[in-house]
Amino acid sequence: MALYSEKVMDHFQNPRNVGKIDDADGIGEVGNAKCGDIMRMYIKVNDGIITDCKFNTFGCGSAIATSSMATELIKGKPVEEALKLSNQAVVEALDGLPTHKIHCSVLAEEAVRAAVKDYYDKNGIAYDPEALKVSDCEACSME
Ligand code: FES
Repeated sequence: MALYSEKVMDHFQNPRNVGKIDDADGIGEVGNAKCGDIMRMYIKVNDGIITDCKFNTFGCGSAIATSSMATELIKGKPVEEALKLSNQAVVEALDGLPTHKIHCSVLAEEAVRAAVKDYYDKNGIAYDPEALKVSDCEACSME
């Protein structure tokens, strides 16, 4: 079996929604201290719906593929639904990732959460800080 699925290769070679939203409603930036990869996610929100989403990832192929898929999964969805996006859902949508690359998908989940948190902060929307905590994933710190 190939190390990477066709979908991973496709999203790595032809990433969707790459770029920046100048008037973004929320911007989330997360990084992995171990590998040094950085992911920045921009969201545009209208009436509680994520109408646009773009990303810039300075990192590995899996980080690019997972950010690309994450933007596809949250675009057009209510903000609350985007918050429920798990790294497992991103991995499943990509037809899997090698075990040692799962932490890259955690970065994508956290970038979405960080962008939503920024949106909530900028708009004075109350939230449970625990639910929106962005932390280093266990897999990353074990490497
Ligand atoms: Fe750093 Fe993939 S190796 S996010």
